[in-house]
Amino acid sequence: MNVFDAVRSKRAIRHFSDRPISDDDLSKMLNAGRWSGSSKNIQPWHFVVLRQRQRLEALSRCGQFAGHLAGATVGVALVTGDWHERWPVAFDLGRAAQNMMLVAHELGIGSVMANIYEIEQANSVLELPPELMCYAAISFGYPVDPDALTRPPRQDGKRPLADVVHWERW
Ligand SMILES: Cc1cc2nc3c(=O)[nH]c(=O)nc-3n(C[C@H](O)[C@H](O)[C@H](O)COP(=O)(O)O)c2cc1C
Repeated sequence: MNVFDAVRSKRAIRHFSDRPISDDDLSKMLNAGRWSGSSKNIQPWHFVVLRQRQRLEALSRCGQFAGHLAGATVGVALVTGDWHERWPVAFDLGRAAQNMMLVAHELGIGSVMANIYEIEQANSVLELPPELMCYAAISFGYPVDPDALTRPPRQDGKRPLADVVHWERW
């Protein structure tokens, strides 16, 4: 799958089958995150990999729409240290997340983000040291319905190009 097709076809997947993710594939996905560009090349991330059902379930209770983590084959918590001091951190974490999800997509593995709102609770689930925090998490797994991986967006799912692109000036 080329990059254009991967970007165009990737959909959020929230229902996962029991098929395991191989260590090889997981390592490709994690490397894709690690290789991402970041502001000043600070690489402000740690990836906490979750496979234990109990911990995935506990993290799924840390965000209003994070329920899908409970059924993920693998969860990756995006952990950072200097969120409050450096505004581009969210941007950097977003790039790492997207790279991981695109490589997963190429491997036939579905994924979706979860915003984490209960920060203290998530930090405790992940047993983080006090200077770190969990910003968001990603669910990964083979989809229950393989066609869901590349299903078309909903009719009104993506804003038209003319609505979002402005040439030279507003
Ligand atoms: C920063 C970010 C946070 C998101 N948080 C959640 C979330 O908490 N729960 C969830 O189910 N989906 C979450 N999503 C997935 C979006 O809902 C999804 O990408 C969007 O509806 C578009 O669907 P598509 O990815 O299939 O095109 C998040 C996506 C992004 C980029």
